[in-house]
Amino acid sequence: MVNYVYSNPEPLGFIQKYPFEDKLEREFETYDQGSIGVTGSTPLGSPQGDSFIEKLALLLLARSFFLNLPYFETTQEITMKTINPKETKTAEVHALLLGAIAPRPIAFASTVDEEGNVNLSPFSFFNVFSAKPPIVVFSPARRVRDNTGKHTLENVEMTREVVINISNYDIVEQMSLASTEYDKGINEFIKSGLTPEPSVMVRAPRVKGAPVAMECRVNDIISLGPEGGAGNLVICEVLLIHVNENILNEEGKIDPYKLDAVARMGGDYYLRANGDCIFELPKPVRNKGVGVDQLPEHIRNSSILTGNHLARLGNTEVIPTAEEVETFKTDPVVAYTLNKYREDQTQLREELENLGKKLLDDHQVLEAWKVLLMV
Ligand SMILES: Cc1cc2nc3c(=O)[nH]c(=O)nc-3n(C[C@H](O)[C@H](O)[C@H](O)COP(=O)(O)O)c2cc1C
Repeated sequence: MVNYVYSNPEPLGFIQKYPFEDKLEREFETYDQGSIGVTGSTPLGSPQGDSFIEKLALLLLARSFFLNLPYFETTQEITMKTINPKETKTAEVHALLLGAIAPRPIAFASTVDEEGNVNLSPFSFFNVFSAKPPIVVFSPARRVRDNTGKHTLENVEMTREVVINISNYDIVEQMSLASTEYDKGINEFIKSGLTPEPSVMVRAPRVKGAPVAMECRVNDIISLGPEGGAGNLVICEVLLIHVNENILNEEGKIDPYKLDAVARMGGDYYLRANGDCIFELPKPVRNKGVGVDQLPEHIRNSSILTGNHLARLGNTEVIPTAEEVETFKTDPVVAYTLNKYREDQTQLREELENLGKKLLDDHQVLEAWKVLLMV
């Protein structure tokens, strides 16, 4: 279910919004009777002399602005384009995969060749696959353009060693510069202005200033094909992990805000994992939520709640009892809503669903449950 909800992104406190609504409605009622006007420009222009529809739209817009309630909802029509990779150019498949599988973490890999020449290049076909043994995998692919291989791959084939440095926002431009296809033997530490720091267990140096660096032994290299675009899985066992202590929180864990990681998306897009990009979602494995399938049908079929809202409800262990729902009817906002729309059951249902949605957005899941069970 996909709902587009256009509403004021600045949430007001749940209880706070009450007086606004009353005041607003009084003002608009008075305005409708012609005794006072609404001053100031609005997205719809001056309401003076405008049609009833415009006034109504203005009321809804203003109401939405103050109350953070939706004033326009529609269900998106989805048309899926289906692509068969076997019938599509490799460059197009490549772009689609990279656009879709995003954001991707970036392994900033330093290696040396047999003569000890240093190489440094980023790879976003990268992830962690095991903790014991600690295994990370990255993939230098054969170039789509001319089916040639990357220096990093040649180096790990020869030396079976690599350092995976994690790039953050502080070094993102230097990391990007290091991806330049310099000739073999050119040291990208020098080209990108990064400082090498000697490693302890492998010959390749690590990047000074990288928030985390992992010295690795290459356990296996799996070629995924002979053609341009084919990846090569470099399976690395982490021997030593160096972590900048400044990115740790009081518990000694990596603080995502301090890490300030960057990730690769499609085309030239990157993601900086910081600020509003980061959010917390309680792990469902900690408890056993009832699941979306256990939600009452009217909640599951709501046109106001999105799939995310339903999942938030489904992640609750215990559904409130009828008694708890009844008690919550005395909550001022709930009581006001029940009273205001008591004559119009359809409107009441919508208002309660909106209230439930607002509570879910504010992470007040149990309160949302109670309100939605009143519907
Ligand atoms: C952020 C970023 C991520 C990249 N990820 C990959 C990747 O996963 N696989 C790959 O083959 N090339 C990737 N590239 C391109 C390589 O970094 C580039 O081809 C580089 O020149 C290879 O260097 P090398 O030949 O010295 O190993 C990426 C480039 C950037 C900027």
